[in-house]
Amino acid sequence: MDESRVRHILQQNAGTPCTIRGWVRTCRQAKNVSFIELNDGSCLSNLQVVCDANTSIADAEKAALQTGASVEARGMLTESPGGKQSVELLATSLRVIGGAPADSYPLQKKRHSFEFLREIAHLRPRTNTFGAVSRVRNVLAAQIHSFFQKHDFLWIHTPVITSLDGEGAGNLFQVTTLDPAAVPKRDDGTVDYRKDFFEKPSFLTVTGQLNVEAFASSHERVYTFGPTFRAENSNTSRHLAEFWMVEPELAFCDIDGNMDLAEDFLKTTLSGLLRDSEEDMAFFDLRIRPGLLDMLKGVIEKPFMRITYTEAIAELEKSGKSFEFPIQWGSDLQSEHERFLTEELYQSPVVVTGYPAEIKAFYMKQNEAGGTGRRTVRAMDVLVPGLGEIIGGSEREDRYDVLAARMDELGLDREMYGWYLDLRKFGSVPHSGFGLGFERMLMYVTGMQNIRDVIPFPRTVGNLRY
Ligand code: 4AD
Ligand code: MG
Repeated sequence: MDESRVRHILQQNAGTPCTIRGWVRTCRQAKNVSFIELNDGSCLSNLQVVCDANTSIADAEKAALQTGASVEARGMLTESPGGKQSVELLATSLRVIGGAPADSYPLQKKRHSFEFLREIAHLRPRTNTFGAVSRVRNVLAAQIHSFFQKHDFLWIHTPVITSLDGEGAGNLFQVTTLDPAAVPKRDDGTVDYRKDFFEKPSFLTVTGQLNVEAFASSHERVYTFGPTFRAENSNTSRHLAEFWMVEPELAFCDIDGNMDLAEDFLKTTLSGLLRDSEEDMAFFDLRIRPGLLDMLKGVIEKPFMRITYTEAIAELEKSGKSFEFPIQWGSDLQSEHERFLTEELYQSPVVVTGYPAEIKAFYMKQNEAGGTGRRTVRAMDVLVPGLGEIIGGSEREDRYDVLAARMDELGLDREMYGWYLDLRKFGSVPHSGFGLGFERMLMYVTGMQNIRDVIPFPRTVGNLRY
């Protein structure tokens, strides 16, 4: 591969010959000279290309040289007088590869709203913000893999199509090859799934966890990292119907080890990101959320706050604040409660454990009921200021009888989950894991306020254009 990308070129000295290809951000034409700001996506900065009377450029192409056009320029790097960059390209020749009509290119020099840019999701990668989001997304994914690889975790590619509701929450997208206009029926009027592709109902997975547990039971340290799907009808700035989740799973590990792993994981990947994405992160700090870098550095330095759900409820009651949703032991923490804990009370990420069993998934390990008779599970949510839940996880129920009884209680079909129960029959071990919403973390590290703006092509209720 040749290295003629803006990111590398800007590191080179005046006097170096070079060739560059990219898209015109702006083009200023004066009488005998024009200045083109060229971006190729390799970094936030543009390379300034200067064309003068000596630059060879076909007359026919001059008109096509507009914002949005793709060009190739050849020439020599020269010192940039008073420019933002140290060098610019004095072009000996310039070729328009694909022109762009001046009057209809949707990305103009002015600032566009994120709402407007969502309507042109195929062009927004060419803006500063989405260019930066895309690079940060890439670097963060690389940091995540590097963290796990360094700690001997195996990346397991868990399936996307499944027959199981891994969270037991019932918000699945169904996958079928049946014709909706002529669904085959049994005599009793129910759908005859024997005629469907898998000969049973099938869905897009909501989590890779159940499958990855099988590999934690053989390889001890594993993780999945891929797309997951939820047909939640929640049109919020934090929910997508298709999002990416990172799910480590660790054998011989209890809830305390799980909390340590989550904290180490967040801090290490965050430091790696700050190190490897300096220019883009400085952009988010300047343009999107002032104070972002100081906030993130603070997160890396301080230990996370750790409290139980019961303690959280007590703190919320003590706060004397009037919340929209009442504080009551047994109810799930709402966004306003999470904000109070992370933003006001502790001003730091908070790990909450020991949630009521009734509001958490069937697979979580049950605590002894104790004197209060309240049934809790070894769940763990990591909450962060400005966002709320970024990680959800737990120690898993590793006792066959207890898990089977809980599944019966919730009406889950023991036979369908038979293989999952088997893991508790053959060499069961205490094990734990968690899921990090990758886009939630991207929002956190970039300061972007809407989850639709940190994924290339968002899927949300009623929105599937791209
Ligand atoms: O808390 P959740 O539902 O946990 C699980 O799925 C477990 N199986 C994970 C595990 O233990 N292996 O989801 C995990 C995280 C949430 O904390 C949140 O960050 C993110 O996934 N998430 C979503 N992100 C975007 N859009 C949605 N609709 C999301 N639902 C969950
Ligand atoms: Mg959760």
